[in-house]
Amino acid sequence: MTSKFYITTPIYYVNDEPHIGHAYTTVAADVLARYHRLLKQDVFFLTGTDEHGQKVDQAASKRGIPPQQHADELVVRFQQLWKQLDISNDDFVRTTQERHRRVVQAALQQLWDQKEVYRDTYRGWYCLPDERFWTEKDVVDGKCPDCGRQVEPLSEQNYFFKMGQYQERLRRHILENPAFILPDSRRNEVLGFLEKPLGDLCISRPKSRLAWGIPFPFDPDYVTYVWFDALVNYISIPGYATDPERFQRWWPADLHLVGKDILTTHAVYWSTMLMALGLPLPKTLFAHGWWTVNREKMSKSLGNVVKPEEMIQRFGVDPFRYFLLREVPFGQDGDFSKDALINRINSDLANDLGNLLSRTLNLIEQFTEGVIPQPSTFTYPEEKEVREVREVALGLFSPIEDTLNRLEFHLALGEIWKLVNRANVFIEQMAPWKLAKKTDEKEKLRTVLYTAAEALRFIALYLRPFMPQAAREMERQLGLLPPYEKISLNDGRKWGGFLEGSRVAKGKSLFPRIDKKNETEPAASASAPAAPQKVSAAPLSFKPSIKISSQAEDYGVPITIDDFAKLDLRVGLILAAEKVAGSKKLLKLQVDIGSEQRQVVAGIGTRYTPESLIGKKIVLITNLQPAKIMGVESRGMLLAAGGEEVLGLATFLEEIPPGSRIK
Ligand code: ME8
Ligand code: MG
Repeated sequence: MTSKFYITTPIYYVNDEPHIGHAYTTVAADVLARYHRLLKQDVFFLTGTDEHGQKVDQAASKRGIPPQQHADELVVRFQQLWKQLDISNDDFVRTTQERHRRVVQAALQQLWDQKEVYRDTYRGWYCLPDERFWTEKDVVDGKCPDCGRQVEPLSEQNYFFKMGQYQERLRRHILENPAFILPDSRRNEVLGFLEKPLGDLCISRPKSRLAWGIPFPFDPDYVTYVWFDALVNYISIPGYATDPERFQRWWPADLHLVGKDILTTHAVYWSTMLMALGLPLPKTLFAHGWWTVNREKMSKSLGNVVKPEEMIQRFGVDPFRYFLLREVPFGQDGDFSKDALINRINSDLANDLGNLLSRTLNLIEQFTEGVIPQPSTFTYPEEKEVREVREVALGLFSPIEDTLNRLEFHLALGEIWKLVNRANVFIEQMAPWKLAKKTDEKEKLRTVLYTAAEALRFIALYLRPFMPQAAREMERQLGLLPPYEKISLNDGRKWGGFLEGSRVAKGKSLFPRIDKKNETEPAASASAPAAPQKVSAAPLSFKPSIKISSQAEDYGVPITIDDFAKLDLRVGLILAAEKVAGSKKLLKLQVDIGSEQRQVVAGIGTRYTPESLIGKKIVLITNLQPAKIMGVESRGMLLAAGGEEVLGLATFLEEIPPGSRIK
């Protein structure tokens, strides 16, 4: 692994304010930047804004102000949001800055001198009322594809970059460097695009048509096409043509993170521009998926744009960051809903992680006066459970390294949650509250409390890149003192030697549960225009998941108390869960019922992911005849609300030991 890591986000247009999509890319880049810093690599993390071009020009003229003033106002929205989201970028580029403009001009001059750029006639179509330029393939039956009015043929002198000549070299580069475009499916898309002949690229706009851009250095009548201008930010800021030493240190970029909408401009325009400039290509271009909102495209006219500021205010920075990266595999499209966000917060953060921290610290306060005890050195051979927790913790490093190298954030978090879940199960199994009652179990009690605290230290360390504030707060509550903040992942991922004797500082609840009842409004802001009502002509076919009826419910055939007494119902603790191969609905669970462990197959796979179930307490009917479901043995049935569709599992308000009888 190289010791430097240069990572970028797209530079966002300042035509409008930032939304969840911009936050997504930027948070992902931030996690990687923080992760590489934790590995003690030299990191350069660049983000910024794209301020020239037609989009921004039009947005400004709509507001009746000059484009520069418009950009100056909008850029603050981005900068403030990144601050709120704890984005740790090392620089912020604005394409209107002189340090960027002069490099764009230097690059244009270089390509002109090298005859990589030529002047020619651009033939196309012009929509006079819209003042928009269209190419041959845009126009539909001689009409503007946007407004449907007649377009005029137009030919105009422009500057072209000889992009087409690099087609074969680019194809070869992509084929020979499998990590150049990721994920794999996106690489194939680009290769598909390169099957068709690649033309040259028009990189100028006559000032008479669009004045808002960087002037051509060798022709004052033209400004630079916005994409040529914007892409150069990746080299202008690290010092191309101005600071060779610095540029040498950072270029080529290790990772350009982009959305799938702008993969072609990066894979094709940018790569060929770099070839013409004689520069190496970035190591990786990663194109992530697209967010929709409640299954609809996000748009102003629908009024469903998710404002990150609002999510942060209601749910907190870290829960929002966590959700973005946990919910959807990074290369795939995802759907945002407040419901999904609240579910994640309540199950993963409040229930699993928050609970693990608060119960561990409570136990330490209760039984060892708030001081994390020394683990016992006398009780060898050590408990199997203690060893297992330690092994899960020590085993985290390599899967996290692998998943993050592949940008599989959701899997990396899943790995961390294996330890969260294992530690929660560990506390249940070891029942320190019972050990505390026995005088001969004090050594074991200390080891159990230490092990839980040390597991939390590992969890916080690995969570630092994802949830910086929560991780810091966890470390503070564990009593870790300031120099510890600076520790590298390599030094910190050793078991033992940090927490012994440290005084815990219980604080506020890390992730308060969100009450869904208080969250009834849609995700869109209150000030946004209401979504247009969908009118459906056909009668509504509406299938409620809960039967609501004014007539008397049919509650079934009456049974006697003796019939009921035949059921053996027990508290079960889910130790492990996995999908039954070939089934969407079925999960195979290993359930601790006190005296033994049972394998149970349950049809709850569309409602719960396997990992979300680990450590949960359920109600199990233990004396049903064993059955085979899709070839998998099942010895018990769990109770859940709902019919065809599972609404939720029956569970308990109190901490009740597995095996307890239910009557
Ligand atoms: O394209 N889901 O800027 P832009 C996921 N200035 N990501 C989304 C998203 C969504 N619904 N909406 C936006 C530009 N994004 C150019 C880039 S780079 C040299 C110039 C994210 O403001 C995603 O990263 O339209 C996407 O690629 C980017 O915002 C587009 O931002
Ligand atoms: Mg866009």
